[in-house]
This record gives sequence, C-alpha cells and structure tokens, in this order.
Amino acid sequence: MTEKAEETGGKGPASLDLQMDRAHPARVYDYFLGGKDNFPADRELGDLIAAVTPEMRDTAHINRSFMVRAVKYVAECGVDQFLDLGTGIPTSPNTHEVAQSVIPGAHVVYVDNDPIVSVHGRALLATDSTTALVQADIRDIDRLLEEPKLRQLIDFSRPVAIMLVAVLHYVTDEDDPGRIVSRLLQEAAPGSYLILSHFSADMSPRAHQVVELAARDGVAMRARSREEIAEFFTGLEMVEPGLVLPPLWRPDGPVPSDLSNAWGYAGVARKN
Ligand SMILES: C[S@@+](CC[C@H](N)C(=O)[O-])C[C@H]1O[C@@H](n2cnc3c(N)ncnc32)[C@H](O)[C@@H]1O
Repeated sequence: MTEKAEETGGKGPASLDLQMDRAHPARVYDYFLGGKDNFPADRELGDLIAAVTPEMRDTAHINRSFMVRAVKYVAECGVDQFLDLGTGIPTSPNTHEVAQSVIPGAHVVYVDNDPIVSVHGRALLATDSTTALVQADIRDIDRLLEEPKLRQLIDFSRPVAIMLVAVLHYVTDEDDPGRIVSRLLQEAAPGSYLILSHFSADMSPRAHQVVELAARDGVAMRARSREEIAEFFTGLEMVEPGLVLPPLWRPDGPVPSDLSNAWGYAGVARKN
C-alpha cells in the first residue's frame, strides 16, 4: 500500500487503492467528527455504531479536544518536535497548527497507514519544510523509525512529543502495543513526552458492541481498561492530573457535568 501511494505522486484518490467498499477507522472517525472525507461503507459502520452507542460521536470530539490541549501544553513546555502517530484525516486545528502557534517552526511528522490520510495530508498536513507525512503502519515500528522523511525532521537526541492519540485501540494484543510504546520511548531523549488517549469499556459494557461491530467490518479494535492503559506510561512521570477521562485533562473551559459520553482515558507523561 505504501508503494502504491508514493508512486502516484499525489495525483489524487482515483489513482490510489482506497478500499472504498469497506470501512476504515480514519474515515469512520472523520464521519463522527462531521467531516466529508468518508464513503458509504464508512458511514454505514458509523451509523451502526451510533445506533447502539450514540455517545461515540461525542467521544470523537472529546478526544480531538484533548489532543489539541495536550499538544499546546507540551509545546508550552518547550518541545518543538512532534511525532503524530495515527494522524487521522486532517481536521482543523491539526497538530502543526497548534504546535506552531506556540513555537513557530516546530517540526511535525504525521504517520498514518490509511492512504486517504496521505491524499489529504499532502495538501493540508505536509505544507512546508517543517512538516512531513509518512504512510506507514505503527505495528512495524522498527521500520518506521528508520524512515528517512521522519529522521530528517525529528532529532531523537532532543526532546520529542510522541503522540499516540486514539490509535492504540486499533492495535490488538498479538501486535504488542506495549512494545510499540517502549520502542518509541527508548529512542526518545530525556525531556520527551508521551501524549496518549485510548478507547475503554470501563464506562459501559456497550463499548464491546463497538468492538464487535468494527470487527464484523474487518476493523480490529481492542477496548482496554484503565489499568491496561496505565501500563503504557510505565517508567514515565505523569503530568497532572494523570490518566483521566479526556474532558478532565487540563480543561480550558467549564467541564460538562455529564461525562457519560467520554469513553476512554487520556494522559501525558514526561520521560526523565
Ligand atoms: C480514531 S483516528 C485518530 C486520529 C487522531 N489521532 C485524533 O485523535 O484525532 C485513528 C487513526 O489511526 C490510524 N491507524 C490505525 N491503525 C494504525 C496503524 N496500525 N498504523 C498507523 N495508523 C493507524 C487510522 O487510519 C486513523 O487515521
């Protein structure tokens, strides 16, 4: 898939294998966020999920707001390079817009395995020499870390923000998400940050229905408990308030009294 996307030289969706006949996580998420870059198969799965779990639309928005606050926080801590793994289809503000509003010229490398993210990303994410987009699978983390485009912009001898926002729940246990995180952190210099959010069934057993519906459409997912998600932060210093429901992570406005639509946990931590 990577070769196919690169070969097209950004000619557009028609020349790529976008697998429009089946749902893709990036496009279902885009549908939940109210975006336009999705196809009937994506909307069909989105509607099936929303029928049993109407909370999922809010969960997507809530997660995206966490991402924006966390990137701003880490940039304000002085980190000027961001590795955004599982980028998603561009949705304003994107990581580089947030990071560069704090540190102009901050470097951002976007990584996603969905070719449609590459199509839109070329125009909206890889805008100048400070940003780049790599189409790759994070499950092959060793190969990704050798990617020349990534190495050109990310200097691992200096602090970097490793972003795994709403992506590890697409990595099943057999693909060992813990190793992905530890390999990234092993590469990262002291002073680096991990920004992570993850879908969970702790809030409602209906979250398992989301996993089942996605699986029926060929999208593998794994809802994890707070305890399991906390393990990804092992050895790091948690930033206050720790691993919490996303709306409770350093809110920049009033927190809604009803948090029953926040199906997941979010946290930021520092490597010392
Ligand atoms: C729910 S979206 C999250 C987007 C963005 N991080 C956010 O939180 O707003 C998950 C993204 O992860 C991507 N993804 C899923 N599995 C992946 C993998 N193994 N390697 C790279 N990207 C992956 C999907 O294509 C999708 O764009």
